Amino acid sequence: MVVETLVEDVFKVVERWKDKRGNLIMVLHDVQDRYGYVPREAALEVSRQLDVPLARIYEVLTFYNYFKLTPPGKFNISVCLGTACYLKGAPALIDEIRHLLHVEEGQTTKDGLFHLQIVRCLGCCGLAPVITVKHKVYSAVKRGDVAKIIAEHSSQKVEA
Ligand code: FES
Repeated sequence: MVVETLVEDVFKVVERWKDKRGNLIMVLHDVQDRYGYVPREAALEVSRQLDVPLARIYEVLTFYNYFKLTPPGKFNISVCLGTACYLKGAPALIDEIRHLLHVEEGQTTKDGLFHLQIVRCLGCCGLAPVITVKHKVYSAVKRGDVAKIIAEHSSQKVEA
């Protein structure tokens, strides 16, 4: 990430929101829209340009789990932990993903390929338990299916 570009990006975002009430959160939303997460360099720049302590910025960033502090993976794996999915075995799917990819919720694999996200109800409870990977929906997933789903997307990396 080029720092001058980042400074300019943050400047444009701050210009847009600086006279609005509650602007900090809107600035952080815009930064995340731009980068897919809020890089530490951007948080520092927001702190400098809005004259808000960095600690306050991280208070906001860590309070709302919408904000991401690490770069998103190429493939976002969302596992539903809504009631229907939970009852039909979603916790075992999460265990399997943790085991295979060595990531916890909200983390991205070291190769930047997969990001694990837990969500509450994807709105297709009849298909429980449900996993989505980059907008593709997998239904009635069993623990034994997880490796295959991951492999399907890992191979896309090789093709890319
Ligand atoms: S509970 Fe998982 S889709 Fe609704």
